[in-house]
Amino acid sequence: MSSAPRTPPGPPEGAAPPTRDSRGTKPGGRVTLSVLTERKALGEPIVMVTAYDFPSGQVAEAAGVDVVLVGDSAAMTVLGYPSTVPVTLDEMVMLAGAVRRGLTTPLLIGDLPFGSYEGSNERAVASAQRFVKEAGCDAVKLERGGQSAERAAAIAAAGIPVMGHVGLTPQTATALGGYRSQGRTAERALEVARDAEALQEAGCFAVVFEAIPSDVTDVIMPGMEIPVIGIGAGPATDGQVLVFHDLLGIYDGHAARFVKRYAAIREEMVAGVAEYARDVRERRYPEPGHGYTMAPDEAERLRELVDRERQAATLWP
Ligand code: KIV
Repeated sequence: MSSAPRTPPGPPEGAAPPTRDSRGTKPGGRVTLSVLTERKALGEPIVMVTAYDFPSGQVAEAAGVDVVLVGDSAAMTVLGYPSTVPVTLDEMVMLAGAVRRGLTTPLLIGDLPFGSYEGSNERAVASAQRFVKEAGCDAVKLERGGQSAERAAAIAAAGIPVMGHVGLTPQTATALGGYRSQGRTAERALEVARDAEALQEAGCFAVVFEAIPSDVTDVIMPGMEIPVIGIGAGPATDGQVLVFHDLLGIYDGHAARFVKRYAAIREEMVAGVAEYARDVRERRYPEPGHGYTMAPDEAERLRELVDRERQAATLWP
């Protein structure tokens, strides 16, 4: 046995440090709350996207996003409801579990659906716990200030990181006069600022600003110590979020002004399925290479066996 001193495990001298991906995380590392805080401090934009199932979780992982939200927009994008209101906690937890199985690195947030947190602090904590225990989420999100700030404080006190959401809050869009931008008067903008502050004070680790004028964001941002993720709130926020189906063009319907389409996946999906349908109808699919073969002598023996069984009336009598 050599008496030479043993070198400690680790990269050889002069080797390059472990490469970091576009998120700044080391290989195998996960995006944590402190990564987001650091991003804000460094002025590095945070990338957030929604996902609703295993493949969209895998896409978010492969694309290198920082934060994935299993948004209650799932109600419309994947479940076909007319708004976010009908989606249930059971449905959301099921979708969140599928997303979890598709990704490892991004921070995963489950969106508390309408009716799952407003009633009491106990209800809010119990609903948040389901996202963590059953779906493996790292955090949850809720909408609005006011009483929601109290619910956020209760969830945070129960040890579950919570994200807020102000401005256009789709769960209460009817009360806000529909799906329209918020904070367009100074008074209403001040209410948005108060909601954001209340959520920050309640212990939220971050907050979403949705559909508010950039001027309003500019005024509120200096007061925000936690990361702010914008969607239709201008460029001054610490990060941006878009709905998966909107940005990829999977969703066929009206898109909000803030949506930028980066692909036209729905058109490709329709074209692909239509071509498959044509191939089947015109007997171009399956081709020989898509099938399985049997040795000729086995095929011959099979025919003999079937003939024998038919004569004995034990097969297709
Ligand atoms: O449900 C959702 O998709 C959201 C994002 C738009 C932030 O809440």
